[in-house]
Amino acid sequence: MTDAQLEDWAPKGIDVSVPSIARVYDAVLGGKDNYAVDRAVAEQMLQVMPGGRDGAWEGRKFLARGVRAMAERGIRQFLDLGSGLPTVQNTHEVAQAAAPGARTVYIDIDPIVLAHGRALLAGDEYTSVLTADLGDPAELLALPEVRDRIDLSQPVGLILLNVTHHIVDDAAVAKVVDGYKGAVAPGSGLLLAQFCKSVEPELAALEEVALKALGSGKFRTMAEIEAFFDGWEIAEPGVDYMAKWRPETPLSGDLTIAQKVAGGGLAFKG
Ligand SMILES: C[S@@+](CC[C@H](N)C(=O)[O-])C[C@H]1O[C@@H](n2cnc3c(N)ncnc32)[C@H](O)[C@@H]1O
Repeated sequence: MTDAQLEDWAPKGIDVSVPSIARVYDAVLGGKDNYAVDRAVAEQMLQVMPGGRDGAWEGRKFLARGVRAMAERGIRQFLDLGSGLPTVQNTHEVAQAAAPGARTVYIDIDPIVLAHGRALLAGDEYTSVLTADLGDPAELLALPEVRDRIDLSQPVGLILLNVTHHIVDDAAVAKVVDGYKGAVAPGSGLLLAQFCKSVEPELAALEEVALKALGSGKFRTMAEIEAFFDGWEIAEPGVDYMAKWRPETPLSGDLTIAQKVAGGGLAFKG
């Protein structure tokens, strides 16, 4: 099928003339739920960041390890904020494999996530996907569809994976993260990672492409990322590059630059 035909079949409400963060990210991962305009941005990103696809997959692996770790601590409900398009090892799949009956609510501002999530979730009584802006925690947590699945008197697994860099203003992003942290019960977890500043010139070039093409993508230092967890108990091995966070197999040699794109960690509310 040609691109033009695919674009004609785009779900209602999807604008295929401007790149969308969710679809560009899907294209970087090698997915199929994207359009020519998204692939052009993904191409630019991969050009300045060879190996960027592997770097993006580090995020999915980090997500699975983090969700499993939260389930092992007894968390049975997960709020995946800025979840992106479904790929493999999605939050609800990892959560339910670790703890049958675990509930997940996916939130994404891009309606394409709901369009594709619906098909994936047909018949799954524990999971929902909503189109909403995560920017106002009180408003989002009050939505009936969220309240149906997430009991705020019980620990919640909050997931903010590769999304805080899309909120460029530092004070605004701190307010958002603090809003969610403040609203959840003791024992809750926060799994967060985002684009990470370093001295590597390739990363500066990637930040420039993201800011120009998508209007967002602010790289933060590891110390700034660690500050998102302030007041919570940071789990071992601390805040670091995602590839170094409890890798499935021991790492050999230095990290590639693509593996240094994002850093984060997991923390629990005391
Ligand atoms: C880079 S993708 C990351 C997806 C997924 N969390 C992952 O790491 O695989 C960022 C996602 O956040 C979503 N997003 C950006 N700003 C948002 C907002 N204000 N509210 C909800 N979702 C948002 C985008 O639509 C996109 O799907």
